[in-house]
Amino acid sequence: MRCTVFGTGYLGATHAVGMAELGHEVIGVDVDPGKVAKLSDGDVPFYEPGLRKMLCDNLAAGRLQFTTDYAAAADFAEVHFLGVGTPQKKGEYGADLRHVHAVIDELVPRLTRPSVIVGKSTVPVGTAADLGRRAAALAQPGVDVEVAWNPEFLREGFAVQDTLHPDRIVLGVQPDSRRAEAALRQLYAPMLDDGVPFLLTDLQTAELVKVSANAFLATKISFINAISEVCEAADADVTLLADALGYDPRIGRRFLNAGLGFGGGCLPKDIRAFMARAGELGANQALTFLREVDSINMRRRTRMVELATTACGGSLLGANIAVLGAAFKPESDDVRDSPALNVAGLLQLNGATVNVYDPKALENSRKVFPTLTYSTSVAEACDRADAVLVLTEWQEFVDLDPAELAGIVRARVVVDGRNCLRHQRWRDAGWLVYSLGRRTERV
Ligand code: UDX
Repeated sequence: MRCTVFGTGYLGATHAVGMAELGHEVIGVDVDPGKVAKLSDGDVPFYEPGLRKMLCDNLAAGRLQFTTDYAAAADFAEVHFLGVGTPQKKGEYGADLRHVHAVIDELVPRLTRPSVIVGKSTVPVGTAADLGRRAAALAQPGVDVEVAWNPEFLREGFAVQDTLHPDRIVLGVQPDSRRAEAALRQLYAPMLDDGVPFLLTDLQTAELVKVSANAFLATKISFINAISEVCEAADADVTLLADALGYDPRIGRRFLNAGLGFGGGCLPKDIRAFMARAGELGANQALTFLREVDSINMRRRTRMVELATTACGGSLLGANIAVLGAAFKPESDDVRDSPALNVAGLLQLNGATVNVYDPKALENSRKVFPTLTYSTSVAEACDRADAVLVLTEWQEFVDLDPAELAGIVRARVVVDGRNCLRHQRWRDAGWLVYSLGRRTERV
């Protein structure tokens, strides 16, 4: 089949490549000629394991192209995916829908055949129905344009796997929909044949599934981080506690990793937009708990600064601190709302000299925080450090040899911000280990 994907950011580019990998002919469309040129050359503008190879394979096979030309894209297919960004509005909790509106306004008048526009972006509930009305008003006479919603659940770092092997496919359609289900069943046939569950809903349920999923995940993380605060007060161990909770299949161990909390381009903005939308709908009381989820999460960052201060002997002034990790999570170069980078900035504001190292996110970090010092290796960052802070759980940091690192630092003090290190191993090498939600054993 043929399809287009509007927006070649994280979501759109991955979806375009994934659709081509399933054997379809795909055009990715973006208003940014720079992104289009890069992708056309086989270069992914962000780090995502496995994506570059899949992009190159499909470009070479002739199934995938990228363009800025809306007219050509409108003409190419009858199914158009919408994968543009919906960032948080400046100074407000709500989502900024200008990119979504721009695609509808530019694309719909150019359509000459009955078409389906399938939204994948995360939007406030009610948006898809609005877009349906907007499209109907803009469509040429006699051209039927349907809007459907097919939320995307992919995780950064696992985008290829999540796109080709999703847990479920959710499709929301208009009440009078005629084409969307058949078109999507055909496009996703290889996945449906693999037994991936397909849930057909109305538009608003599909929109809500996505934000509810992210709100649940954020709540799960903040739950364990709140318990972590109690563990610290009671001298208990949050990681053992999480393991014990996780054996209950109703709870599950995943997303119960206590530490520096969540960040990135999705969870923080999505829970805020969800609260804002619930308020607009008159259901604001229903989601007031998300405000608490958000504040527990933000408190992790200040708690980390306090812990680092303790680790440096009570003051950050003049302390030389190595920060390992800047990305919001491992296997990503994304630093949007990154807890690690945020903490690095706070430490510097409190008078510390901060050397940051990350395997993939240095370039993006420099753009956001040009005043921090960046190192190109763990050894360089840790040179004469008074404390080493592990703030993103990259495997490279989990595998560090504490005995080797001991010869580089000024003081053998490590702060495990993600509860990812084997503490006994570090203590055996003479290190003092601090972490969130666990006691500090003196050696
Ligand atoms: C998330 C959702 O998981 C995904 O389904 C959705 O499509 C987009 O938003 P992503 O932003 O890629 O994906 O990251 P995710 O793996 O969910 O992690 C989010 C944050 O939570 C990271 O900062 C991570 O470090 C943190 N986290 C995760 C924890 O602090 N503890 C955990 O146990 C799990």
